[in-house]
Amino acid sequence: MPQGFNYQQAGACIEGAHYAYNIINKVELRKGQKVLINGASGGIGTATVQLLRHFGADITAVCNTKNIGLVKSLGANKVIDYTKEDFTKDSEKYDHVFDCVGKSTFGKCRPILKPGGVYISSELGPWSQNIFYSLISAIFGKIPGKEGKKVKFPYPPNILRSIKLVKKLIEEGKFKSVIDRSYPLEEIADAFRYVEKGQKTGNVSIIVDDDLE
Ligand SMILES: NC(=O)c1ccc[n+]([C@@H]2O[C@H](COP(=O)([O-])OP(=O)(O)OC[C@H]3O[C@@H](n4cnc5c(N)ncnc54)[C@H](OP(=O)(O)O)[C@@H]3O)[C@@H](O)[C@H]2O)c1
Repeated sequence: MPQGFNYQQAGACIEGAHYAYNIINKVELRKGQKVLINGASGGIGTATVQLLRHFGADITAVCNTKNIGLVKSLGANKVIDYTKEDFTKDSEKYDHVFDCVGKSTFGKCRPILKPGGVYISSELGPWSQNIFYSLISAIFGKIPGKEGKKVKFPYPPNILRSIKLVKKLIEEGKFKSVIDRSYPLEEIADAFRYVEKGQKTGNVSIIVDDDLE
């Protein structure tokens, strides 16, 4: 655990970061590359913004009006409010599009990807097509006929590697756990009901034992 962190903070900073790090590791990220993150206010999204800031990406984050300040404070260079604009119609072109809430498709995001750009979603897609596209991309090195663009699927393998990176960044003051709200263990059903709405900001934590705080 990072020094000075309690269990609640430590627990809330690792799951999203683990998936975020595995999304980022699927691409050959170079400093200054343009990356668009959809769902930047969620558990995986808030971690992806912070890790991409650490790796020096030029970040465009997509979120709701109420979370614009938060995602900017985490490291986004530009924010698109999805209640006002459709990010898939953006005039900007991106090296990578990461959909951290799985609400988009490769087909819709293709126009905003640069040639050779990579699309990654945390979900399978409405017809589970992301698995098929990622297999095609692995076999041919791209999706044929789509300007060298690729789809990758973020199967998360190495949790120890993620924990070590996040611990280091927290201790250097470069990563923070974003906690929307906390519930005591006795109210865990309410916590699940809240999370299932798909509208939490960052993470929801469960306090197992007050003495551990
Ligand atoms: N592939 C894997 O290994 C893997 C692993 C873990 C999770 N997942 C999947 O990844 C997804 C994300 O998980 P999570 O826990 O990070 O999500 P989450 O925290 O529940 O995401 C909620 C956030 O998404 C935002 N959001 C909702 N609809 C949106 C939209 N249409 N456009 C942009 N933002 C939107 C919400 O903001 P507002 O409500 O304020 O708009 C909220 O802040 C889930 O679907 C989960 O099943 C995949």
